[in-house]
Amino acid sequence: MEGTKWADYIGSAPVNIETFTQHRREWSPVFENQRSAIGQIFAAHQPKRIACLGAGYLSDIPIFDFLRAGCQVHLVDWIPGVSRQGFKWSLIRSQGGQYSCQICHEDCDPTRFCAAFREPVKLPHRVCDNFAPSNDEFAWCEAYRQGEEPGFLEADVTAGRATGFAERILRLMAASNSPQQAIRKAITECRKWSTISHPIDLKDDSMDFITSSMVASQFDHEPYAYFVSRLAEKFGEENIQAKRERLEPIGEKLRSDLFQIQIAGHVDELYRVVNKTDGLVYFSVEIFRSVPERTDFFIVHGVPRLIELLSEKFFFDFQTIPPDRTLVQTDVGDGESVTISLLLKPRSASK
Ligand SMILES: C[S@@+](CC[C@H](N)C(=O)[O-])C[C@H]1O[C@@H](n2cnc3c(N)ncnc32)[C@H](O)[C@@H]1O
Repeated sequence: MEGTKWADYIGSAPVNIETFTQHRREWSPVFENQRSAIGQIFAAHQPKRIACLGAGYLSDIPIFDFLRAGCQVHLVDWIPGVSRQGFKWSLIRSQGGQYSCQICHEDCDPTRFCAAFREPVKLPHRVCDNFAPSNDEFAWCEAYRQGEEPGFLEADVTAGRATGFAERILRLMAASNSPQQAIRKAITECRKWSTISHPIDLKDDSMDFITSSMVASQFDHEPYAYFVSRLAEKFGEENIQAKRERLEPIGEKLRSDLFQIQIAGHVDELYRVVNKTDGLVYFSVEIFRSVPERTDFFIVHGVPRLIELLSEKFFFDFQTIPPDRTLVQTDVGDGESVTISLLLKPRSASK
């Protein structure tokens, strides 16, 4: 079978200090609301077992608050190494020539988080005896070695549906004689995956707190973008452009169907993994969007259905995040975005 395999495609997402630095610069201000909402829920409810789905570079996750409080944390993402590296590059803060390591802290045992930790912690810098600053503009410690916490899990958080579908694309392309046929076959393949589940390697009912922060917003992009690239690889971009009018409606159907199966798989996983007695889920997603030079907003396709799906399995709790802080508007460069932040309680946990 010719073409780029899904594993090579997802594995080629650049994970390096440059993309991390740029991500932090661009997205930390945008994700500030998510980060503070998660921090607030954490402080109010003090969960002990936490899973962060789509953890990425951890811009919206107060990971060091979790770890210092002695929590067991699982960071889950499908991009190989993204959260492991994100953790490593987040450890050191530098201010006015002073370094401090986030885990060389009196509140916790640093040996759990870094296998290279060595006493003493040097003040005022608050780094350990093994600290080896990098030469990059963005400070990190070259000596860091992964400890027993947090756990890093490479997994698809849509119950494996995005991956399962994507892994069949090359075979499907090979068996298609036209772009129309390939899209139709993909729609059929997508339907098959609506009932299949490959769960994340986390036990049922095992987590007191799960975060799904801005992850579902990405289900609209992948694996659809991967499919579109393979279509162009097989049939040629020019050919596809020439047939655009006929292909667009069925392409949109595929995109929408793919979003639906992924959100359903994701909601099922959130419910399966959360502790049903008193567990909580923090969920955020982009719900409205504007485009540059327009003041009108449009609703993000599929999100009302997503909220409906959540409501089938969860109740909404507006105490920790009150309604007036649930919707937040941010500038995302190419327009304005309104995100919704929700605290969810699994239905069987309600009194
Ligand atoms: C917008 S980011 C969320 C913010 C993230 N915490 C950060 O700071 O980078 C979405 C993350 O979800 C991950 N993701 C998207 N779809 C996924 C899937 N089906 N399974 C696992 N991770 C996924 C992406 O790789 C990305 O790292």
